[in-house]
Amino acid sequence: MIPSLTLNTGASMPALGLGLFKITDQAAMDRTISDALSIGYRLFDTASVYKNEAELGNALMRCHVPREELFITTKVWNTAQRIGNIEDALERSLERLRLDYVDLYLIQWPVPGCYLDTWLKMEKLFRKGRARAIGVSNFSAREINDLLLHSDVVPAVNQIEYHPLYNQEETRAFCAKNGITVQAAAPLARGTYLGMSNMTRLAEKYHRSEAQIGLRWIIQKGVGAIPKTVRTDRLLENTQIFDFELTPDEMMVLDSLNENYRTSGIPEDLAPFLT
Ligand SMILES: NC(=O)c1ccc[n+]([C@@H]2O[C@H](COP(=O)([O-])OP(=O)(O)OC[C@H]3O[C@@H](n4cnc5c(N)ncnc54)[C@H](OP(=O)(O)O)[C@@H]3O)[C@@H](O)[C@H]2O)c1
Repeated sequence: MIPSLTLNTGASMPALGLGLFKITDQAAMDRTISDALSIGYRLFDTASVYKNEAELGNALMRCHVPREELFITTKVWNTAQRIGNIEDALERSLERLRLDYVDLYLIQWPVPGCYLDTWLKMEKLFRKGRARAIGVSNFSAREINDLLLHSDVVPAVNQIEYHPLYNQEETRAFCAKNGITVQAAAPLARGTYLGMSNMTRLAEKYHRSEAQIGLRWIIQKGVGAIPKTVRTDRLLENTQIFDFELTPDEMMVLDSLNENYRTSGIPEDLAPFLT
């Protein structure tokens, strides 16, 4: 059973979900979603830029899980923010997903000069019920503060790259203080920390994999995680993190691994503006 985190809307969000970046083939999507649902996953994370919302919608339709059991996240891309028709962007995502609403709609990147306007438009979609919660992704404390100064709706979630090699502690602490749930994108750093000696030592101690140690550290930080895999064995492995606990000293050892190592690059159209 995957536990839940409570969002500032009062809604529950599974603490662990499945990231779908790069799964674009329909057969792979069907198999992955079907396996994931059997294992107990209910949160699926996509984005319009992943070009797989339609494939996810098709796969979910075939699986017949009641809509209210699912937690579906999608995101508005930078181009749509610049065009400015956020309602249209969400409607097109919903159509591809074959859904009446998403559980969480995120601004994928803080496009300078656009993100505040995008947020104010997303508030309307939230009030209309087309998005049960709205949030942000890749936002710093400063950018979130900008939203808080100009808007009545506090983001429910900030999805950021988060793992032992890049712990963004300042952003995590700011979000915790303001009731914003942090969700870890790229929680396995795409495999980069697997095999590092501190991870291996803990994996041996707990008879777990290094991936499970990294995911467990994230969960104990109060952060959600959305590791991506298409492999059935890894789908199961990544959920088996709720029946052991790292000690405070072990948490501190993993805290100390931070080296601001980013796996997912800043999109080309934003690189000149963000660091
Ligand atoms: N908001 C954003 O801008 C943003 C940015 C990046 C990511 N994300 C979200 O976060 C999700 C996860 O990030 P990610 O896909 O970039 O990276 P990730 O989850 O850190 O790593 C995925 C990689 O690790 C492998 N893997 C999965 N489980 C494993 C295990 N137990 N042991 C060893 N290897 C394992 C996968 O390979 P196999 O598939 O072959 O198992 C895949 O190559 C994305 O899918 C996306 O939904 C969002």
